[in-house]
Amino acid sequence: MKSTEIEEIRILRPDDWHLHLRDGIMLRTVLPDTAARFGRAIVMPNLKAPVTTVAAAQAYRQRILAALPEGMAFTPLMTLYLTEATTVEEIRAAKASGIVHAVKYYPAGATTNSENGVRDLRRVNAVLAAMEELDLPLLMHGEVTDPAVDVFDREAAFIDRHLLSLRRDFPGLRMVLEHVTTRAAVDFVQAAGPRTAATITAHHLLLNRNALFQGGIRPHHYCLPVLKREQHRQALLAAAISGSPQFFLGTDSAPHPRSAKESACGCAGIYTAHAAIELYAEVFAQANALDRLEGFASRHGPAFYGLPCNHDQTALRRETWTVPESMHSGEETIVPLRAGEQVFWRILRI
Ligand code: NCD
Ligand code: ZN
Repeated sequence: MKSTEIEEIRILRPDDWHLHLRDGIMLRTVLPDTAARFGRAIVMPNLKAPVTTVAAAQAYRQRILAALPEGMAFTPLMTLYLTEATTVEEIRAAKASGIVHAVKYYPAGATTNSENGVRDLRRVNAVLAAMEELDLPLLMHGEVTDPAVDVFDREAAFIDRHLLSLRRDFPGLRMVLEHVTTRAAVDFVQAAGPRTAATITAHHLLLNRNALFQGGIRPHHYCLPVLKREQHRQALLAAAISGSPQFFLGTDSAPHPRSAKESACGCAGIYTAHAAIELYAEVFAQANALDRLEGFASRHGPAFYGLPCNHDQTALRRETWTVPESMHSGEETIVPLRAGEQVFWRILRI
C-alpha cells in the first residue's frame, strides 16, 4: 500500500537517541512531551554546570525521574560531558555504573553550554582509548569552531580535519555523529562501517535553510548545526528511509525560553518534543516510506547501543491538529516548532 493511503500505523515504542531535557522548571515542562512518545532517551549533558562525572549523572538522573509525572514510564539514558580533564578512571566508573551509556564530545565553543568542551582532541586520546576498550560510545557534535570556516561548512570541515583520522586511530570505538546535516556526513557514515552511526533530527528532515529567512529572520528555526541547502535535506531523507541500521532517530529537541530565542543574539535550539514522532511520521509518509519508520525510530538505535528494543507499541493516526502558539514554563514561555500551525499525525493511546 502507498504511504499516502495509510491512515494508521503501529510501531514498537520509539526512543530518542539525542535529547536536551535541561533542569529545574524547564525539565518539568518538557519531560512529559518526551515521555508521552518515547520509551527512553539519550540525555545530553550540556547543563549550565555540565554533567562531567558519574556522580553528577546519577544525581541528574534522579532529578529527571523525580520530574516524571505519575503513571508515565520513561527511562533516561545518561551521558557524560567530555572535557580535557576527564580521567580514564571516570570512564571506567561510567561503564561500571550501568546508567551512563555514552560520552558526549563538544568542541569548545561550538554550541550552547559547550565552553567546557574539548579544544584539542589529542588531549583526550587516553580517554578515547579507554572508551574503545570498554565499548562506551562517543557521541559527537561534529562541527569545527574555526571562525575562518563558513558556518554552513563547519560539519564537512570537521569530517575532513578530525573525523577521518579519529575513525582510523580508534577503529573499535563506537561513534555517533549527532544531528547530521550534510551529504558529506551521510557519505562519511555510510563508508565508515557498522561502528559508526548518525542521528537525524525531524527539523533537518523537514526544513532547509530557506526556513531561516521565510519573510524575515526566524529565530525559532535557528539551531546548530544550522539548517542546510535542499540538496543536503534530500541526502538526510534518503539516509533516514534507507533502512540502514547506521541511521536512527535523535530529535535534538532543545528548549530555550522565548526571550533567549527572540533576541539580538538568539541562541541555537529548536523544540520538537511536543510532536516529535508525529513529525517523523509526516516525513516518512511523504516519502512513501512509512514501512521504514519502525527501523529508524525503534530498532536501529537499541541495536547500536546494545540494548533491547521496547516491547510495547505506539499507534499513530493520520489526523490534523494545531500546535499551541507557546508553552508556559514558569515565568517563561517556549515556542515549539510549528507553533500555531498544523501537524498531520496524532499519537494514540493503546
Ligand atoms: C543545543 C542546545 O540548545 O543545548 N542546541 C542546538 O541548536 N542543537 C545544543 C546542541 O545540540 O548543539
Ligand atoms: Zn543537541
